[in-house]
Amino acid sequence: MEQTGSPLGPADQPQDTARAVQSMFARVAPRYDFLNHLLSARFDLWWRRVAARDLREVLQRPDSIAADLCCGTGDLTFAFARYSRGLVVGADFCHPMLLVAERKRSCLISMARGDASDGRGSGSRRTRFIEADTLRLPFRDQSLDLASMAFGFRNLASYEDGLREIHRTLRPGGAIAILEFSRMQWTVLGPLFRLYFHHVLPVVGTLISGESGPYKYLPNSVKNFPDQDALARAIREHGFANVRYRNFLGGMAALHVGVKASS
Ligand SMILES: C[S@@+](CC[C@H](N)C(=O)[O-])C[C@H]1O[C@@H](n2cnc3c(N)ncnc32)[C@H](O)[C@@H]1O
Repeated sequence: MEQTGSPLGPADQPQDTARAVQSMFARVAPRYDFLNHLLSARFDLWWRRVAARDLREVLQRPDSIAADLCCGTGDLTFAFARYSRGLVVGADFCHPMLLVAERKRSCLISMARGDASDGRGSGSRRTRFIEADTLRLPFRDQSLDLASMAFGFRNLASYEDGLREIHRTLRPGGAIAILEFSRMQWTVLGPLFRLYFHHVLPVVGTLISGESGPYKYLPNSVKNFPDQDALARAIREHGFANVRYRNFLGGMAALHVGVKASS
């Protein structure tokens, strides 16, 4: 992988990068969900739903433990909860993002009271949120069945350390899943999408959030992020087998999945 971590902050000062990422998400937390769904025309919700469906075999293992890392406001955590027959732990190091996730959890649980047919609501009782750094996870070696990240991996101060930490905490046979923005491969819509992503999205995001940094950072961080094949290679090099990806909307986003090889 050429780019080895978030471009926010100096490459040789990972602590500074982590602090800058943390404070950027703290500032946008109250408007994060609204802007996410608006700027992606709600496609982000569909991508997370598909990711959860693709991973249902792991989630449905009895007493499975899934960790949704860099969980933010918890949308992927809740999508997993629909299928889980165990526990889904959402972990993030940004307290204000976790406060939103906790509020949503309480809401989903009270909405589901008396209505067992709502998978998200009743499943939400199987979720927990914890404050934790993805590069120093509070999980024992080989304790997880699934470790995922949706739009979080790109923000890590070190991609290699992130992959190593996931490898340490997964059981052999456990699954890694990374949902991230990627390289759009459609020749006609590609340039239009890039125009939107680099010029329209930063303006709208800044206007609505009142913060100029985060929505300029987003296209910059994607520009330097490894493409689909480079990320698949890096995952393989960190001890994962059966690594494959699926593109969403021609590669605007991609879901990479792999399995921790038995040693
Ligand atoms: C773009 S948000 C994604 C949130 C959520 N997964 C989603 O799908 O909307 C990125 C999240 O990663 C978190 N994050 C970045 N680096 C982290 C780290 N080292 N440890 C824990 N959380 C981290 C940020 O705090 C932020 O909440």
